[in-house]
Amino acid sequence: MNARFDPSGPLRGRLAPPPDKSISHRAALLAAMASEPVRIRNYLAAADTSSTLDAVRALGAIVEERPDELMIRGTGLRNAHVPTDPIDVGNAGTLLRLLPGWLAFQLDGRFTLDGDQSIRRRPIDRIAEPLRLMGARIDARDGRFPPFTVAGGPLQGIEYELPVASAQVKSCVLLAGLVTDATTVIEPVPARDHTERLLLRAGAALTREGDARRGYRTTVRNADELELDCVEVPGDLSSAAFLIAAGVLVSGSRLVLEGVGVNWTRTGFLRILERMGAIVLGELESVGAFDEQEPVADLDVTGAPIEGTTVDAVEVPLTIDELPLVALLGCFAEGETVVKGAAELRLKESDRISSVVEGLRGLGADIEAAPDGFIVRGTGSLRGGRIDAGGDHRLALLGAVAGLASEEGVEVVGIEAAAVSYPRFGEDVAKLAAA
Ligand code: S3P
Repeated sequence: MNARFDPSGPLRGRLAPPPDKSISHRAALLAAMASEPVRIRNYLAAADTSSTLDAVRALGAIVEERPDELMIRGTGLRNAHVPTDPIDVGNAGTLLRLLPGWLAFQLDGRFTLDGDQSIRRRPIDRIAEPLRLMGARIDARDGRFPPFTVAGGPLQGIEYELPVASAQVKSCVLLAGLVTDATTVIEPVPARDHTERLLLRAGAALTREGDARRGYRTTVRNADELELDCVEVPGDLSSAAFLIAAGVLVSGSRLVLEGVGVNWTRTGFLRILERMGAIVLGELESVGAFDEQEPVADLDVTGAPIEGTTVDAVEVPLTIDELPLVALLGCFAEGETVVKGAAELRLKESDRISSVVEGLRGLGADIEAAPDGFIVRGTGSLRGGRIDAGGDHRLALLGAVAGLASEEGVEVVGIEAAAVSYPRFGEDVAKLAAA
């Protein structure tokens, strides 16, 4: 399906962006692992997080969808049912990488995970390696791709230094570590910490040392059970980022985005925007903070002229999903915008270095790919044209925002991909444009 996004007049008004995808996945998984029922408020209703609900149902959890909340009755830590069919993760990379951490210690269980075409090109060796060191048995297609099988068994604790800064890999190892004497994950460069915060809330023995500059050592120890009463999911900064970018680029805009999660491990994009000269106000969590609760703020966005900036490797995990938007902003900025140390982008729902560079170039951008990022020479505007989302939700949304800020509008081919994280984007933008 195609959709056109024409140059927009000022975007104005207040709006709550969709619930956080990362936290929704984790809330549903931990609820399925818990011993008592868990209520989840503001769970994301989108394709990725529906896959997680289907997966936990297949594993024996009971999911009750009430009008204003979900109620999940889990199986307990060690009692997941073994489904007869493969578990279909759809397009959800987070589900693909986190779930095996739980399945790996289900004694005598064999679980197969599979997903869509995009999932089948996403490597799982990054989780298979630490899980094997812990004693799990994993068989993957060509040694590293889905479909793959996890054979559960007793696990032993490890100390594991992440070879890539990945919250998904960190989370997988921490979940598996829940049945070991002690498992430590060392992250030289910090990535999002939602799993750690939720585990703490669920009563797990989790400790963390280090700081934002030197990175963290996080240790979990044997848990008998997890207990969470109610989880309230904040708004998704990564989805809000599309509205923020539109608000910055469409002149005369003034938006207030309500209830957005501002955990500092997610707000790298806002710090980059500040350097570029954009005006986004809101009470952000301070860098290095760590608390059971997820901080939430209203963000006030005003259109403003921007200048180019450089994003380095240490900043990349804190803004990984917003980097396509940094490229788009770079087109409108004065001077050059450079992103380095972001080779991980090649392993997302699409190869996001190639897809962003080719997509934006097709709209008139002066942008060049590097092995680990891109360089954009800002021209202050973007012509417009056609962009193919290629099944990648963030590319579909990127094209939509590009259209609003462009001279001639953008036709997004495959707009339905946006349903993975932000199904109502078109309606939300129409509301803001009409206000
Ligand atoms: C996510 C972590 C990131 C991110 C993804 C969601 C998560 O992936 O790109 O969209 O929920 O943990 P990596 O941890 O693999 O970088």
